[in-house]
Amino acid sequence: MRIQLDRNLAMELVRVTEAAAISSARYMGTGDKLGGDGAAVDAMRAYLNTVDMKGVVIIGEGEKDEAPMLYNGEELGNGHGPEVDIAVDPVEGTSLLAEGRPNAIAVLGVADRGSMWDPGNSFYMNKLVVEKKARHVIDIRLSPEENLERIAEALGRPVRDLTVFVLKKERHQKLMNSIRKAGARITLHTDGDVMGALMAAIPGTGVDVLMGIGGTPEGVIAACAVKALNGGMQGMRTPLLEDEIALLKKDKVDLKEVLTLDTLVKSNNAFFAATGITEGSFLEGVRFDNEGGVTTHSIVIRSKTGSIRFVKGIHQLKK
Ligand code: FBP
Repeated sequence: MRIQLDRNLAMELVRVTEAAAISSARYMGTGDKLGGDGAAVDAMRAYLNTVDMKGVVIIGEGEKDEAPMLYNGEELGNGHGPEVDIAVDPVEGTSLLAEGRPNAIAVLGVADRGSMWDPGNSFYMNKLVVEKKARHVIDIRLSPEENLERIAEALGRPVRDLTVFVLKKERHQKLMNSIRKAGARITLHTDGDVMGALMAAIPGTGVDVLMGIGGTPEGVIAACAVKALNGGMQGMRTPLLEDEIALLKKDKVDLKEVLTLDTLVKSNNAFFAATGITEGSFLEGVRFDNEGGVTTHSIVIRSKTGSIRFVKGIHQLKK
């Protein structure tokens, strides 16, 4: 019974990210970040409430930039089925969508109830993500050079054949210098490190490693994908905002604590689903076809079986 429910859940979650992607895709290039996010939030909430599960939102979105929210603690699902934690990012890459640039996605992660890490007052964390073969060799406390050498050895390739996904931010100048010194290649992206983590955890995507500081909530969502893929991930809280620094200090949070994959998502029963909103090299975006047809491209991963499904949806909205 539970196996059947889990199977169904994986496919139901794709319907949720598809709905969020379709609703928000109309905002592509409009410059309206909040509008796009709001449309995705509404669609995600409506669809999540039809899914067979008793869900609680652990990672909602919006507090960082005051976007409309799916509230932390909000109960979702139709009240039947497994008890789960939910992490959502209805639009991961709100600027990418607003400016019509590649790689905006609608994304969510689900895991057994009580298993998702709550970031509390942490908004930014340093992240290191790799595929399964290199998962035992990474150590976020070591330098990027040392990690890249270890990863290269584990993957059986020279460092110069590795490609590292890094967010294009001022704060990453030193990191980029280190990666260049080590001899690896870099792919820079202004936004969207959930996509970077996903690509790093799946062999053969053209991204081998994700390194650098991004959102903590995005880190937990990415952890659902990495867990489901049996990849490797470590994080470390790296507060950047004044309030964040003060609050973590007040809470006496140990900033040196290594957040392992098992800390971020305790359960081995994790699901991850994402649908492209704007075009991307990994997931194609929402396309509006003739006579009201809409095409979507999604990925859904289920940890129990390790299955990765790429789902092309052709929707007839008029029907
Ligand atoms: P939004 O969708 O909220 O705009 O986040 C996009 C993103 O690039 C994430 O992928 C990343 O983790 C975070 O923002 C980095 O934050 P910042 O842009 O403040 O450095």
